[in-house]
This record gives sequence, C-alpha cells and structure tokens, in this order.
Amino acid sequence: MPTNSAAYLTVPYADLAVAEAPYTSAAAGELVIRARAVAVNPLDEIKQSTGNVMYGWLPSPAVLGEDVAGEIVEVGAGVSGFSVGDRVIAYAVGMEKNRNHAAEGAFQLFTVVQAQLTARIPLELSFEDAVVLPLAISTAASALFQSDQLGLRHPTSGATGADADPTEWVVVWGGSTSVGSNAIQLAVAAGYSVITTASPHNHDRMRALGARHVVDYRSGSAVHDVVALVEKRPVAGVFAIGTGSAEPALSIAVATGARRVSLASPSVSMSSLPRRRAPLALAGFGLRMLSRTVPLMVRSRLRGIRTRFVWGSALMNTEVGPMLWGGFLPDALAAGRYVTAPRSEVVGTGLESIQPALDALRAGASATKFVVTL
Ligand SMILES: NC(=O)c1ccc[n+]([C@@H]2O[C@H](COP(=O)([O-])OP(=O)(O)OC[C@H]3O[C@@H](n4cnc5c(N)ncnc54)[C@H](OP(=O)(O)O)[C@@H]3O)[C@@H](O)[C@H]2O)c1
Repeated sequence: MPTNSAAYLTVPYADLAVAEAPYTSAAAGELVIRARAVAVNPLDEIKQSTGNVMYGWLPSPAVLGEDVAGEIVEVGAGVSGFSVGDRVIAYAVGMEKNRNHAAEGAFQLFTVVQAQLTARIPLELSFEDAVVLPLAISTAASALFQSDQLGLRHPTSGATGADADPTEWVVVWGGSTSVGSNAIQLAVAAGYSVITTASPHNHDRMRALGARHVVDYRSGSAVHDVVALVEKRPVAGVFAIGTGSAEPALSIAVATGARRVSLASPSVSMSSLPRRRAPLALAGFGLRMLSRTVPLMVRSRLRGIRTRFVWGSALMNTEVGPMLWGGFLPDALAAGRYVTAPRSEVVGTGLESIQPALDALRAGASATKFVVTL
C-alpha cells in the first residue's frame, strides 16, 4: 500500500494540518490518482471560514479540495478507457453529500475520483496548468447545458463555433472568474456569441477566450452597455457569476427578453463573515441574503424568467457529465481547442502549501487560480 498524507481541516475554522492518511483503493467506477497538482477554490475557503454553515454534512477531520491533476495508480472494476500511468485531471467530489468524504477530497497525495469525472490530458499540458479546470468547467457546463438551467445546445470539440448562429447571444456576467473563463469557451464551442464582463485589465484575456464583447462590470452603465451590445438579437441565456451578479443579470434578461438566468453566486458574499463561530454575524448575513434573494426571485417570477442557482457537481447525475468529461473536454484538449483558464499561479510545493494558497485566495484573485504542486 502506498503511504498517503492529507491536508486536514481537523476542526471548523482551523488552518489545514498535514497528517498521515489512509490509502483507499478504487471501488467500481473509480480511479485512484497520485496527485501532482491541486488548486484551491472559493468553496474550500468558504468552508474553512464558515464552520458548518456550508457542507455541514462533512465529518471532522475533513479533506477539502475539488481540483486534482496527476497520474492514475489504480483502476476500479468496470472502468474502461483509463490505464495506470495515464496523466489526467479530475473533479474530486469528496465534499458532496453521500460520498466517501475523506478519500475523495483533493487535498491529499492519493485521491479517489469517479472515472466519469476524469479526463486524460495531452503530454504537452502541465499538471499545474490543467488543474485549474475541474470545478470551474463543471460548474460552467452545469449552468449552460443542463435542461433545468440555461439548457443550451451542447458544445463540439471540432472547429470551434463552426455551427455558430452569430445572431444568438449568451451573456456571461463575471467572465474573468474561473467559472466564467470556462463558460465563455464552452458557450463559444456550442455556437453562441458571448458578451461578458470583467475589469478592464482582463478585457484582452476575455477576447482571447472567444468573447465578442467585454464590459466593465464595475462601471455604473454595465447593464445598459450589455443591453446595447445585444442589439435586439436573441439572448439564449444569462449566466451570473460573482457576488452581486444576480441583480444585473436579471435586469439584462428583463431588457433583452432572455427567459433563463443561471446563478453561480449568492447575492451576499460569505467572505464578509468572520472566520470563527459568530452567531450574530451569521444572523445578519442570513437577513441580508433573504432581503436580496426574495425580491430577486419575485421579480423573476413576475417577469416569467426562470432564475435558478446552479451547483457545480449537478452534472455528475445528468447527461452533461459524460458529455463534458467523457467527450468534449479530453477531445478539445487533445486538439488544442480548449485553453486552460484562468492562468495558474503556483503558490508552493507540498501539502503544507495548500493553507497559504487558501490565504492567497482569501486576499483576492484576478483571473488567476492558485495552485500547489505535490
Ligand atoms: N454554485 C457553484 O457550484 C459554484 C462553483 C464554483 C464557484 N462558485 C462561485 O462562483 C464565483 C466565482 O468562483 P471562481 O472560482 O470562478 O472565482 P475566482 O476565479 O476566484 O474569481 C476571481 C474573479 O472574480 C471576479 N469578480 C470579483 N467580484 C466580481 C463581481 N461582483 N462580479 C463579477 N466578477 C467578479 C474578478 O474579476 P476582475 O479581476 O476582472 O475584476 C476576479 O477575476 C464565486 O462566488 C464562487 O463561490 C459557485
């Protein structure tokens, strides 16, 4: 048995602590990966900061982490298409309900992953660049393609945009987020034209990913600017990413006639909560959340617009998971038709560097994913 170690969240709010961990073998439909790079996501940081407000079902100690890249060391029964030694990325779902939580968290040397949420990567793609993708692309795909979200046409890994109907828009509010960078590329690959928002220093990056127009979301005229760019052409859907993105996204839908809005972020930032048990702050947060969310949902309903929150792991139970992980993503990466975005910034090496990576994320990221090599 290989010797495993993990970066554990031992008790709520604590810094991660590295300790020996059991090695878990692959069950049917699973793989074990020797991790070579992991990335940190806002939800890891939020889980650490908010105790059991989020993911209250996770036992302590917990192994967080969703994004892993490495080599396959074990293939479970019934898995085809993967071999020991394959270089892969995977979406580790140990934080989701009803999973083998600690074994399936990404922040360890040997991680159990679902074969259906794993993709081979080309030799020329480094683990640290590829690892930016799993949660971000899964969330973007769930929002864009699930029938209960925007329900868009699926992407093709062939000539990007070959079937494009240039008259049909998708609006991605928050294009420079990790989720947004992937949503732009997926929507373009599915044949839509994209209008997105980002800070001005990221506009060229957004265009390089395929966005046709980019607007500064901080400018007071952002909603008006997006609506003007639509030029009365059809808007297939609006995907809102980032705190406070829901309201402008709904305003855009109202003004353009879009019928569906997908939301990745709550209206109030959980980062505003202190990193400790704070019942009063939590109650205030809950009230602010209700006072923003209820009017939003009422306005949606009155306007006949379907507005829904998306959950990044939703695709593992729908046809979108196999479409993305079993088809589009490995093919598009192999063909060089998909960019690993946002850019990766390696914060350190070793499991001990994951806590500094979380601290860096807490301090703020702009079109950057913080990565740790292992
Ligand atoms: N529902 C789910 O399952 C799910 C899954 C993953 C993520 N999320 C949520 O999606 C959001 C993005 O996550 P991520 O990992 O993609 O984040 P990230 O990569 O860390 O996002 C960083 C970017 O956020 C942009 N940004 C900051 N505030 C914004 C705002 N108010 N509106 C639009 N963009 C804003 C910044 O853009 P500029 O630098 O250009 O200003 C920055 O580039 C977070 O709220 C996260 O919690 C939800």
